[in-house]
Amino acid sequence: MLKVEHLRKSFGGVTAIDDVSLDFRPGTLSAVIGPNGAGKTTFFNLISGALRPDSGRIVFDGEDIAGESPPAIVRRGIGRAFQVASIFPSLTVEDSLTGALLAHRGQETTVRRRFPLAETRLRAREVMAMLGLDARADTPSRNLSHGDQKLLDIALALVLQPRVLLLDEPTAGMGPEERWQMIDRVYRLWESEKMTLVFIEHDMDIVFKIAQSVRVLCYGRLLAEGTPAAIRADPAVIEAYLGAPAQEPAA
Ligand SMILES: Nc1ncnc2c1ncn2[C@@H]1O[C@H](COP(=O)(O)OP(=O)(O)O)[C@@H](O)[C@H]1O
Ligand SMILES: [Mg+2]
Repeated sequence: MLKVEHLRKSFGGVTAIDDVSLDFRPGTLSAVIGPNGAGKTTFFNLISGALRPDSGRIVFDGEDIAGESPPAIVRRGIGRAFQVASIFPSLTVEDSLTGALLAHRGQETTVRRRFPLAETRLRAREVMAMLGLDARADTPSRNLSHGDQKLLDIALALVLQPRVLLLDEPTAGMGPEERWQMIDRVYRLWESEKMTLVFIEHDMDIVFKIAQSVRVLCYGRLLAEGTPAAIRADPAVIEAYLGAPAQEPAA
């Protein structure tokens, strides 16, 4: 469904993504992990069209989409939550969602463009309910808590009904309790929508608890891929990223 082949992207002398090939099976929940600067965000930027690869293929539904514009890729069904929250700071949560949906539909190239407001509101409400944002429907997004802003980021991607959803550090900047709440929501979202979900995450407890498969990037290269159990036991991953269990500070 979604796979990349020999993907490469450099910035000057830095090779951020170095000959990466991997594939995401439909309906799976996968994590991308690796040290800071490993190329994780660049990887998402390439898939979502924010960056153009130097070489390699990004194949979605059998077509090479590498180099297409971000809106074109969203229209194909690949959504992405950004790390910056509140794209429309003065709009309420509900209006942000209906705005995103109307903008998206306005770009559709179908001859007959019909997007009744009632239907748009319905979809916005459905997504707010899914993420537990319903109580914030009338709150301007700049007044949301950090956690609710991150939920709004996800909601903005979700309202367009993506088949693949990319989440770049959904729990960044959150305390332990809020972090698990967020992950619980993400997990339930994945279960109910049956989408292909790929998330970048630093908290290994979260990764090993919910991911079905894990990809490890290191200096732009795919260091390892496998089940959480296999990744946890992989000597190369332990050396490059996880650290030896004996060296971990006592919990
Ligand atoms: N737009 C950019 N311009 C120049 N260098 C970049 C840019 N984006 C990322 N990089 C570099 O590419 C490498 C990978 O960065 P990034 O993908 O953000 O890593 P990660 O998300 O794993 O922390 C880093 O060395 C980073 O400095
Ligand atoms: Mg990053």
